[in-house]
Amino acid sequence: MARITAGVATSHVPAIGAAIDLGKTKEPYWAPMFAGYDYSKQWIVEQKPEVIFLVYNDHASAFSLDLVPTFAIGCADEFQPADEGWGPRPVPVVKGHPELASHIAQSVIQDDFDLTVVNRMDVDHGLTVPLSLMFGQPEAWPCLVIPFAVNVVLYPPPSGRRCYELGKALRRAVESFDQDLNVQVWGTGGMSHQLQGPRAGLINQDFDRDFLARVAGDGEGLSRIPHIDYVREAGSEGIELVMWLIMRGALNDQVREKHRFYHVPASNTAVGHLILENT
Ligand code: DHB
Ligand code: FE
Repeated sequence: MARITAGVATSHVPAIGAAIDLGKTKEPYWAPMFAGYDYSKQWIVEQKPEVIFLVYNDHASAFSLDLVPTFAIGCADEFQPADEGWGPRPVPVVKGHPELASHIAQSVIQDDFDLTVVNRMDVDHGLTVPLSLMFGQPEAWPCLVIPFAVNVVLYPPPSGRRCYELGKALRRAVESFDQDLNVQVWGTGGMSHQLQGPRAGLINQDFDRDFLARVAGDGEGLSRIPHIDYVREAGSEGIELVMWLIMRGALNDQVREKHRFYHVPASNTAVGHLILENT
């Protein structure tokens, strides 16, 4: 059977992708941020995940205001890096796992969550920056990826509670897939940031550190944070953090926290990163 072995949470700031692509990772501004991923790069080589279920949000690259699915699962063979205005990032094409993705779609939809099935989709920094942070710059990504897009861009976003429960449905789905596969679930986005309006540039370190400290042991409690508290405390784009709760819900009740990292700033954002292993 397939099994979920670990979860990864990480911010997905587009400027991080640009720093990697333009060879700036050793510059004083960036070096301390990338150092927070040194452990993670070694860890993932040892873990050898075969499939990553990657929870992220699209930033008007694949979906425009014409069509805004709350939850969308990528069931295609492959996904091209999106052109976000400066040309597509020079990263490998993302190879999917249509069989597992279709199984998850059927299981999770029958488990009462409405997913949009996507058979063609480009993937933007929300998905490619986490891959770059964890894997560096390989010729090809070393595992398959199932993109799972969550709407946190256009009001109303899904609640943290729904995301957490969706994670549990995802766990049931993966564990009923009849192939031996080492699957990881990644939750991306966050931490606190606001890109617009009078509070643009907002970063709330107290909120972020508390959130980071509670993901492993109190996902249940975090899932009760109402969306308006994210907006107030973590800024309008801090709502991206509900995606971490899909990852947490997909893991066992007991997890081992292997790595925690927090850094301010990267572009307009606080960078948070966690590695959790199922016990
Ligand atoms: C920034 C952060 C994001 O999460 C994003 O999607 C776009 C920009 C930023 O900090 O600049
Ligand atoms: Fe974002």
